[in-house]
Amino acid sequence: MATGMLHSHTLFVVLFTLIYLIKTILLLSDKDDLLEKFKKKTKVIEMIVSFGFLATGIYLMARLPEINMFLIIKIVLVLASIPLAVIGYKKKNKVLATFSFFLIIVAFGLARKSKEAKAHGTTIAVSGKEIFEEKCTLCHGSNGKLGMSGAKDLSVTALDHQNIVTIISEGKNTMASYKALLSPEQIDAVANYIESDLKGK
Ligand code: HEC
Repeated sequence: MATGMLHSHTLFVVLFTLIYLIKTILLLSDKDDLLEKFKKKTKVIEMIVSFGFLATGIYLMARLPEINMFLIIKIVLVLASIPLAVIGYKKKNKVLATFSFFLIIVAFGLARKSKEAKAHGTTIAVSGKEIFEEKCTLCHGSNGKLGMSGAKDLSVTALDHQNIVTIISEGKNTMASYKALLSPEQIDAVANYIESDLKGK
């Protein structure tokens, strides 16, 4: 569900930026008639795209475990660019319109930075699923059944929560200990994920 939302959000952002880009180019090249025509033609589409862009953005933000600096700056930029763009295109003010387009592009760049920051662990993953996908699927597979290097099939494990936590913390045979890599909360979250999503499935 969340990844579907993320894809729709990206799609809306791309469409939004594209409409913006065309309008800015038309304005900058003094094609006023074309700009008016384009604005008229895309009015409804633009409304739908802007609404979708904001709605999916708000939905995704509400689900984030942690809000980082990049994200806050990005939102401020996007929110600032909207009134600037409205005034810029209405008054055919090239500086304002270009500036607001520039803000959107910077926001785009920040969205990427924020993703990179996440990938480098600046935001600590607390979702058991994420940790499992990242650290455990190599041997256990995403359904727990892969059995690489003798890994036990997690879908048929008979262990209770405490024993699962112990194996993840201390390791066993070829499976390494994770207590130096994961916090107790993270180990607990992965154990919960195994029990709720893999065991008996
Ligand atoms: C290098 C491969 C490898 C990786 C990576 C790995 N495991 Fe394992 N895992 C194993 C092996 C091998 C066993 C079987 C150990 C034994 O009983 O001899 C095992 C056993 C387990 C068991 C016990 C299952 C049972 O029923 O006995 C759990 C729970 C488990 N792993 C969870 C995890 C989690 C969670 C991660 C990621 C944080 C992880 N493993 C990463 C190889 C791996």
